[in-house]
Amino acid sequence: METVVTRDSVLKAYRRYAHFYDLLFGPIFHPGRRTAVQCLNCQAGERILEVGVGTGLSLSMYPPNVSVVGIDLSSDMLQAAQRKAESEGLSQVEALIEMDAQRMEFPEDSFDKVVAMYVASVVPDYRLLMKEVKRVCKPGGTIILLNHFENKNPIIRAAESLIQPFAKYLGFHPDFPLEKFLKETNFRVLQQVPVNLLHYWTILIGKNDKTIPH
Ligand SMILES: C[S@@+](CC[C@H](N)C(=O)[O-])C[C@H]1O[C@@H](n2cnc3c(N)ncnc32)[C@H](O)[C@@H]1O
Repeated sequence: METVVTRDSVLKAYRRYAHFYDLLFGPIFHPGRRTAVQCLNCQAGERILEVGVGTGLSLSMYPPNVSVVGIDLSSDMLQAAQRKAESEGLSQVEALIEMDAQRMEFPEDSFDKVVAMYVASVVPDYRLLMKEVKRVCKPGGTIILLNHFENKNPIIRAAESLIQPFAKYLGFHPDFPLEKFLKETNFRVLQQVPVNLLHYWTILIGKNDKTIPH
């Protein structure tokens, strides 16, 4: 069985999810979103990139004195985000753009801070994602990732391995080892914060060190 997550499988999966995404993944993932945005420690006038903004569930969590750009591969998800931004009058939203996080169209150092919530295990290649995140974030800027990583509990890990063959249909990789991710992306994490139900998800907080080779 083909297990590779591709651009097409992501688009197909999120076309399916878009209609009921907020119901299924809204409140249950909210504590993590809220903590991740708090950890950004947003300051007036900052320009923030949210990668894989999805249906825009986190947009109202940013203070009105920052400027948020959200990107996503899925136009279906983005349409929901656009509707939210308009109906809730979210003035902090500068733009919501259909764009591949693995090949961003922004110039280098475009953002003060970059955040990606529940995205790293969804993109086809997380190495390209991180390379781009570091490129578009200013030197010393905060980078925050919120994701599920492979569980240390052997029983849960076995269950994750069982559903791994369905990665393409689920739209994410259930077994996603943190150590491998950190090693392959050269992302230096300053702090890890466990969040959500059973602390099954983790927020990784780092500063963009452009002197470290990717
Ligand atoms: C699990 S959802 C998370 C959405 C949102 N961050 C949240 O908190 O609910 C993952 C999102 O990543 C997007 N995505 C996947 N691959 C992407 C890529 N290469 N570039 C941009 N967005 C991508 C998907 O379309 C989807 O909207």
